[in-house]
Amino acid sequence: MQFERLAGLVKDRPEAGEFTVHRDIFRDPEVFELEMRHVFEATWIFLGFASQLPRPHDFINTWIGRTPVLVMRDGKGKLGGFVNSCRHRGALVAHTQAGNAKYHVCAYHGWAYGSDGRIVDIKDQKAACYPPGFDKLDHGLQPLARFADYRGLLFGSLSADVPSLDEHLGETRTFLDMVLDQSPQGVEMIPGSSSYIFKGNWKLQVENCVDLYHLTSAHPSFMEIVGRRQKGESAHGLAAIDFTAYKSPETVRGSYTFEYGHAMVWGTVADPRVRPLFMDIENVKQRVGELKARWMLNTRNLTIYPSMQFAENASLQLRVIRPLSVDRTEMTIYCLGAVGESAAAREMRLRQFEDFFNSTGMATPDDTMCYEDCQTGYGSRSIDWQQGYSRGMTAVLRGPDKYADELGVKPVTSTCSQFDMQDETVFHAGYREWLRLMRKGVA
Ligand code: FES
Ligand SMILES: [Fe+2]
Repeated sequence: MQFERLAGLVKDRPEAGEFTVHRDIFRDPEVFELEMRHVFEATWIFLGFASQLPRPHDFINTWIGRTPVLVMRDGKGKLGGFVNSCRHRGALVAHTQAGNAKYHVCAYHGWAYGSDGRIVDIKDQKAACYPPGFDKLDHGLQPLARFADYRGLLFGSLSADVPSLDEHLGETRTFLDMVLDQSPQGVEMIPGSSSYIFKGNWKLQVENCVDLYHLTSAHPSFMEIVGRRQKGESAHGLAAIDFTAYKSPETVRGSYTFEYGHAMVWGTVADPRVRPLFMDIENVKQRVGELKARWMLNTRNLTIYPSMQFAENASLQLRVIRPLSVDRTEMTIYCLGAVGESAAAREMRLRQFEDFFNSTGMATPDDTMCYEDCQTGYGSRSIDWQQGYSRGMTAVLRGPDKYADELGVKPVTSTCSQFDMQDETVFHAGYREWLRLMRKGVA
């Protein structure tokens, strides 16, 4: 694909009040191929939590773009990330999502690898009549070009040409800390996860996590049910975020964008008693201070570009995006909880998670249906340019607003407004990073 054509898929002229993307970025298989190589295989991708592999020889299987990735803890306790592909002729050497194995033996011809990725046995090697050059090859699993963690969040990159993970995460670390500091022992993946596939491009999910504009139109059933519960029409009286209060003038609401495509929306909560963390808030305040504790009760949806999202607007959800093809995406979702939280807080968290999130919750199916409708709509080849990236353009600030200043965070852009503005400039960061990576790759 020509460099000029690629650059022409995003129109980014804020001074002229223009930002839009061409629909080919959602529907052209050639663009998808380039994205896999130049976005997913050229930047840091979230792999999992270190706490998923607590013991020696524990492993998890995951993906970087199309590359199957095996993360293992070796016998000495060191974590490593490897391409899950046998050096002999390519088969996966580990199949299950997670487990514990000192050795991974390829099911095809029996080459065996240790949990440090090194080859430990080539079946019938002595009698093989291998040429001398063969012995000089590294037969071990290929390590990822980069592998690092931020406070137990594991990331890998297939390209060595990436900034340090700390630089990549940059200012978002303050908000990641708000996720990770929910108890003195941190946050954990509550056992169980759901995976589902929607018939749409992966960027639809990237957008949705920070898309406030859809809330009142795509999720009316959830809002209706919250309203009915408030009137007492509920046997269990589950406390959930009251989205109708989003419109109240007391609610402060904003969005931030960061370097490397990351983006976030946030808002204050009318009644913090609906937050499981509120039950322990005095301890949280002592640990992280008044200001951060207040922020930890705010709703915060954060995308670490391109494939990791924390949605903390009801319960606390981690989403991992795996693109399958230009019009197919796999989502895996986890409920996160404060380690050691009370049974009451954990129960509230789980019920809220099932209520709003989860593949059977009252919000997720609304969103996935909208993605599939969009993807179907992109079949209309008479329309090329989207009109969905302009809300907030005359309100967006370069740099921090007063709330970011107070926290000591330096976003690239900030918006702060009443609910009804429902900013769309928050999407620009992802597309700017998309274009930067694609240009760099194609060049
Ligand atoms: S493909 Fe693994 S041993 Fe042959
Ligand atoms: Fe939604």
